[in-house]
Amino acid sequence: MAKQPLNIGMVGYGFMGRAHTNAYKQVSQFFDLQRTPVLKAACARDADKVKAFADNWGYESTETDWRKLLDRKDIDCIDICTPNNSHAEIAIAAAQAGKMILCEKPLAMNGPEGLKMVEAVEKAKVPNMVWYNYRRVPACSLAKQLIDEGRLGKIFHYRANFLQDWTISAELPQGGAGLWRLDAAAAGSGVTGDLLAHCIDTAMWLNGGISDVSAMTETFIKERTHTLTGKVEKVTIDDACAFLCHFQNGSLGLFESTRYARGHKALYTFEINGEKASIKWDLHDLQRLEYFDHGDASRVRGWHSIHVTDGDHPYMGKWWVPGLAVGYDTSFTHQVADFIESLSTGKPAQPDFRNAYQTQLVLDAVLDSAKARQWREVK
Ligand SMILES: NC(=O)c1ccc[n+]([C@@H]2O[C@H](COP(=O)([O-])OP(=O)(O)OC[C@H]3O[C@@H](n4cnc5c(N)ncnc54)[C@H](O)[C@@H]3O)[C@@H](O)[C@H]2O)c1
Repeated sequence: MAKQPLNIGMVGYGFMGRAHTNAYKQVSQFFDLQRTPVLKAACARDADKVKAFADNWGYESTETDWRKLLDRKDIDCIDICTPNNSHAEIAIAAAQAGKMILCEKPLAMNGPEGLKMVEAVEKAKVPNMVWYNYRRVPACSLAKQLIDEGRLGKIFHYRANFLQDWTISAELPQGGAGLWRLDAAAAGSGVTGDLLAHCIDTAMWLNGGISDVSAMTETFIKERTHTLTGKVEKVTIDDACAFLCHFQNGSLGLFESTRYARGHKALYTFEINGEKASIKWDLHDLQRLEYFDHGDASRVRGWHSIHVTDGDHPYMGKWWVPGLAVGYDTSFTHQVADFIESLSTGKPAQPDFRNAYQTQLVLDAVLDSAKARQWREVK
């Protein structure tokens, strides 16, 4: 029997536009779902470029104004893959148009804006989700299972890093297509909202809420040429951010992110130390989960390097045979699968807007703390 379609209207064709489209194309081949994503329309401002994207990936049509997508009856779901300063406007209008919404992270530019988005989707009662995709890397999902089973016992420490090195050159301009991340007017903040947002989402999913933070940020290169104006302008983002925090469960957190860690491209790592066991994960080796269990017999006790590829590991039964890895791209495929599943069960796929709003509140507290050079409670 033909499955019911889930008609996608994609806004943006950049990095995430490609990652999500790949997931929509792949998901029904590997997961047995009630609905099949259909690539109905791609939207971006440049007609030629969006047409080239649509042709390459197999979208049926294109638009150059996202408002047109919202008017279309043949679109069920709006996928927001645009820079951060456009998420709220598109999402609120999409909710009012009764569309389901999948929105890239961070949800919003700040907490108050995020709250408006939460209120809009809850008022319209439309299914919604935010692409904090690392939750769906099988090794991270296994970490969640181990924690929820109580294998770590009481948790004492949570440590996360997200390190890159691509903005070290002072010659790199800021702003405009591709470099909007270096412009706070488009991005909201620098590494805090871009990279630490992921670390915070994973941390609160694994270890619960964060109650207060003490942060520092630094902007190493103070002025860069702005692509849009051609003038040398003040850099308004944070290049690096580190913060300490208390989790509500009493554990201590230590987070660091920078785009100035020469040699590191996307080194997202976390380590969690509990009373009975510890776990470690590293995006550069994403299929492995390192696990130390103090309950092991002392003669063989040590770090287990679990290759998360067996049929009983999260999501892996849907892929190849034990021992064969999947990659970064499949975290998005898993997220689409869970979203479609949630439409059948009625249990919202996480993180939904309300859940992702919690991360926004932590980001606000981090930036505020760094500015004030004082501890800040998370609202
Ligand atoms: N989940 C993740 O791991 C992850 C990774 C990268 C980026 N992101 C997030 O995804 C979003 C997009 O980032 P990206 O790296 O794909 O950016 P990108 O620069 O590669 O692509 C942005 C796209 O948005 C389009 N666009 C901009 N303004 C628009 C408008 N008003 N109407 C229609 N299209 C518009 C651009 O033409 C471009 O196609 C950001 O919010 C970013 O934080 C998430």
